[in-house]
Amino acid sequence: MKQDMILILDLGSEENAMLAREIRALGVYTEIHPHDITLEELRKLPSVKGVILNGGKNRVVDGVEIDVRDEIYACGLPMIAADHKTNGKCPEIESFGACEKCRAKSLSEFVFDKCGCDKNWNMENFIADQIELIRNQVGDKKVLLALSGGVDSSVVAALLVKAIGKNLTCVHVNHGLLRKGEPEEVVRVFRDEMDANLVYVDAVDRFLDKLKGVDEPEQKRKIIGAEFIRVFEEEARKVDGIDFLAQGTIYPDIIESGTKTAKAVKAHHNVGGLPDDLQFELVEPLKMLFKDEVRACGDALGLPKGMVYRQPFPGPGLGVRCLGEITRDRLEAVRESDAILREEFAAAGLQGKVWQYFTLIPDTKSVGVRDNARSFEWPVVIRAVNTIDAMTAEIEEIPYELLKKITKRIITEVKGVNRVLYDLTPKPTGTIEWE
Ligand code: XMP
Repeated sequence: MKQDMILILDLGSEENAMLAREIRALGVYTEIHPHDITLEELRKLPSVKGVILNGGKNRVVDGVEIDVRDEIYACGLPMIAADHKTNGKCPEIESFGACEKCRAKSLSEFVFDKCGCDKNWNMENFIADQIELIRNQVGDKKVLLALSGGVDSSVVAALLVKAIGKNLTCVHVNHGLLRKGEPEEVVRVFRDEMDANLVYVDAVDRFLDKLKGVDEPEQKRKIIGAEFIRVFEEEARKVDGIDFLAQGTIYPDIIESGTKTAKAVKAHHNVGGLPDDLQFELVEPLKMLFKDEVRACGDALGLPKGMVYRQPFPGPGLGVRCLGEITRDRLEAVRESDAILREEFAAAGLQGKVWQYFTLIPDTKSVGVRDNARSFEWPVVIRAVNTIDAMTAEIEEIPYELLKKITKRIITEVKGVNRVLYDLTPKPTGTIEWE
């Protein structure tokens, strides 16, 4: 392994992820593991140079005091305790964390001076290590991946192509709810440029038929999710001899699923739902990366910037932006107006500066005039928001001139649209999406 590792043992701290980020910011790789890790398990982890016991005030969990095993205290590795006493079991263990100012200094001293770590956490080393790990795990067996074209699945695909080439089969399901140019880009990047084994599934009619007449948002989401699994399952059955399923699980998914000492924030969404006879061993090479690290990894693997730095996009895609029943005319209008908005944001240098921006179409027409005649057409709504965690959001103040330019383009270029509105609502009270 090319990277030294500092092991964080989770003793009920709510700040494991923050500590992990602080150490990675020093240029040293770190992983968070449960407090009850055995010595044998620890020894199996590559290149561990030191251990941090991370437990704060909530070290008593459900009325029970938790601690690491005695064999870990005796493992001989340099150890430090963050915010917690060591029960007198290991008096030489120092503590840090009481004082904000000296925290960074003591962390740095521990990591470099006591543990002797090298500053070798970088994407080149990460990629080299992952390629070795993937090859060790998979051997010459075959791996399947649902490649949506989102950041995480794209980076997993690029990494696996590098590691195992044609033994990876990517399945890209076009459900008709992707943004303009996205399915084409997936094919261009992965099949044409990377020479990956890519199965492109045109399931547009199938999804739209299933969604016909459905106007309830949650019902729409359920249908899209269930149909996606069905299509993927059918394709998986066509590929012979698959042993592994690759997934773009990232570190926050794992952390948010809850550890032994913390309550789950949300369920971890696997490509679950596959039937029992299609359960594979998982390959999850990004499971220790934070989102910005996933992007850096994609960059280092040579993926297009637009793919790596793309804004968040909901799983049900344009399906939740074509309000009410999804009809083909409005779906195309959403797709076209969204493409115009993105193009103009990029031209104005706003790409990457605004967290999320898109258009949507309500299912109510309004009266207008076009070519000296009465028109009765759809409105397009522009939404642009900034947020840190998507729990609350502020609206982006789009310059007026830019709004006028976008409006003009939408009402002249997008078929069936005669009005453009700008949503000024923060979250709360409005959610980011309208459905
Ligand atoms: P809301 O609308 O809840 O959105 O304020 C917060 C963030 O989540 C995205 N979003 C979704 N993502 N599946 C997803 O993968 C969904 O069903 C879904 N609904 C909303 C939304 O785009 C925003 O970034």
